[in-house]
Amino acid sequence: MALFSKKEKLSEADFQIVPEHLGIIMDGNGRWAKKRGLPRTAGHKVGAEVFRTICQECVNLGIKYVTFYAFSTENWKRPKSEVDAIMALFKDYLLEAKRDFVKAGNNRIIFIGEREGISQELLDLMDEAEAETASHTGTIVYLAVNYGGRQEIVSAVNKLIAQGKTEIDENDISENIYTVPECDLIIRPSGEQRLSNFLLWQAAYSEFWYSDVLWPDFKKEDLYSALREFEKRNRRFGG
Ligand code: FPP
Repeated sequence: MALFSKKEKLSEADFQIVPEHLGIIMDGNGRWAKKRGLPRTAGHKVGAEVFRTICQECVNLGIKYVTFYAFSTENWKRPKSEVDAIMALFKDYLLEAKRDFVKAGNNRIIFIGEREGISQELLDLMDEAEAETASHTGTIVYLAVNYGGRQEIVSAVNKLIAQGKTEIDENDISENIYTVPECDLIIRPSGEQRLSNFLLWQAAYSEFWYSDVLWPDFKKEDLYSALREFEKRNRRFGG
């Protein structure tokens, strides 16, 4: 199934409200594989399939923005074979998307993160996916690849310094980070209850939802559980 499939198949679930911007930390691939005596890369492979399913469901639910944390600036510390396997999964996905651009739905893809370190071949495919979907007005799928929230803020400050600013305010930072909106809900499977450098600026008033399920086992029903819980949250934004 392609990311950009058309919107005709709407979700079987129905919600009064859904987050405008949903962030998802895809965690637990390694543990999922270890439990089965498989290499970690097997977990990432299944994780990539789950990404496709959940991404499509976010589209079906009419979520306006969804950000998937796919590879952090810290993930380069992993063995080269694992990093290469994850990059190969990105490539497969982008090649698949490329084959589908013509009959693509109305969804847009945007990468956030540092370009340095990513192969030129992958960068070209990423650029192509962004360009081909730039005019689409449906769900915006942000893929955080080589992404770090601290690095994002530091880079915004450096841009402001380069502009000659000596004093800045929150708007300055908001206007110079990646153009990702404030995040309403962050989902983290795998039992960990931390942000791990994800959307630090945009998560200031995010709700959080955690689950013990490992990402390769994550199902649409887990997404619905998170969204049902979100519907009940009383958001006060500090007021
Ligand atoms: C975290 O689990 C997962 C990653 C660092 C990689 C996530 C990548 C994918 C799901 C593939 C994405 C593919 C596409 C097409 C977007 P972990 O390895 O840290 O798991 P662990 O905590 O159990 O070791």
